[in-house]
Parts: sequence; C-alpha cells; structure tokens
Amino acid sequence: MTDAIEGTRAADPRRRIGHRVEYHAEIGSTNDRARLALDEPDGEGLAIVAELQTAGRGRRGRTWHSPSGRNLTLSVGIRPRLQASAAGLLGAATALAVRGACRPAAALAIKWPNDLVDDDGRKVAGLLLETALVEARLAHVVIGLGINVNWRRREMPPQISTVATSLADLAGRDVDRSALLGRVLDALDDEIAALERGESPLERYRAASWLDGRRVVVALGEREVEGVALGIGQAGELLLQTDEGELALAVGEVLRVRPVMAVPA
Ligand code: BTN
Repeated sequence: MTDAIEGTRAADPRRRIGHRVEYHAEIGSTNDRARLALDEPDGEGLAIVAELQTAGRGRRGRTWHSPSGRNLTLSVGIRPRLQASAAGLLGAATALAVRGACRPAAALAIKWPNDLVDDDGRKVAGLLLETALVEARLAHVVIGLGINVNWRRREMPPQISTVATSLADLAGRDVDRSALLGRVLDALDDEIAALERGESPLERYRAASWLDGRRVVVALGEREVEGVALGIGQAGELLLQTDEGELALAVGEVLRVRPVMAVPA
C-alpha cells in the first residue's frame, strides 16, 4: 500500500510543528492526546496521527466520523506566541495551511470559519481548534484536523455523502496520505511562524473564501441569524448583512446556505 501512515517519514526535526510523528492504530481523540503531550518534554508540535478515533469530535459537540485507513486524522498542540485576539487569525492560517497542502490534489475554498470545501460547498476537511487562555494570551492551542482523503463518496453514509466529498473524488485518483501529512506539517509550521512574526493571513484567506455573496443561516449558540455574507473582517470575523443591519460574527457555525435567487433584468 503506497499511502500507509504507519511508519510515515513525514516528521522533520527542523520543524517546530511536526518534528516528530506519533502514530496510533486506534485512539479516543487525537486532540486529547495532543493536549496531554503539551505537558511532556518536547511535546509541543508533536504530530499525533490515528487511523481510527473512537471518540473523534467536531465543532459544536458533533461526532467526527472517519473510517480507518482512508483519511488523515491529525492533531498538534502548540504554545503560540500570540494574543487571545489572534485566535481567529490562527484559525485562518491553519485553514490556509491545509488548503495549500491539499492543492496538488484539489483546489479547495474556505467556508468560514475554517472548513475546506469544493466549488459546490461539499466539505473535504474540518478543523477543531481548542484553546486555553491565560489573561489576554493564548496559553496553548490544540489544532485538530480531519481530511477526507481516500474515502470515496460512494462509501460514505448518505447523510455524509450529500454534504461531503474527498480529495480522491476530486482528483479522480487515490492520494498518498503520508506525502499529504508531510505537506500539512510543512505548511502549518510556515503559516504559524508567519503569523507569530506579525504577518496577517487575511488577504489570502479572503481570496479563498467560499461564502461571499451567499445567503446563509448562522448558529450563534442557541440563536440563528440569517443574512448575506459580505466578507471577512480584520480579525477573521464573518461580516453579515441582516435585515437588522450589519453584524460581525467572531464565532458561529453556518447551518444552511440558501440558493441565490436570480435578479430579473
Ligand atoms: C469539524 O468540522 O467539525 C471539525 C472536525 C475536526 C476533526 C478532527 S479529526 C482529528 C482531531 N481529533 C478530534 O477529535 N477532532 C479533530
């Protein structure tokens, strides 16, 4: 098998992120393991990969489904040199890293805040950033990402295949997961170092944004708001034109994207 993850050579000791890779055939959640690793010597930047998670989690308390041997399931814990106010930009930088790493297989867009989608909005990858704050600083962040790599739509359960796809489906061929892992770690290392140097990923994030001009329903905790996505603000927030005026949403989840009506000439 050309794309085995066990025994991967994707680690690179010159990197802060991904200097070492820890492989698990099965684990609860790679995010939990990466959090624990932060308290171990050299645990910052240790890349945790797993073939199968028995308690993989997504955003808003969802379960993350990914069959063994098909996809990339990865977490890394870091102690970023960033203020808490940069959390949105860190998510943006992470999404750009994954997008760049996937580029040889497929051109993906970013659906705010940090889903990677195809042209039709089908999800290919999701990110879960779990942060701990100390005063105004990001004390640590666990970056978890799941990429649908060789899990074909025809193999997905219907409730997933209607809204998701995979790199292999988009590329029309299987994708080498170990090589992809190496590119993800390279890109994460570069993007996060650039952000810590004060370089904003915003312009590139805006250029990759899928939502602009679309009418969406966004969950804000228990509340839902509807409006047209106008763009992305300075801290990575979604700018939404609603009937009550313009909103800047720092957090939230796009629940639905409404079909855009053609305007009669
Ligand atoms: C989402 O789109 O809701 C985020 C999905 C994040 C899934 C990844 S898989 C690796 C890491 N470990 C987890 O338990 N979740 C993240």
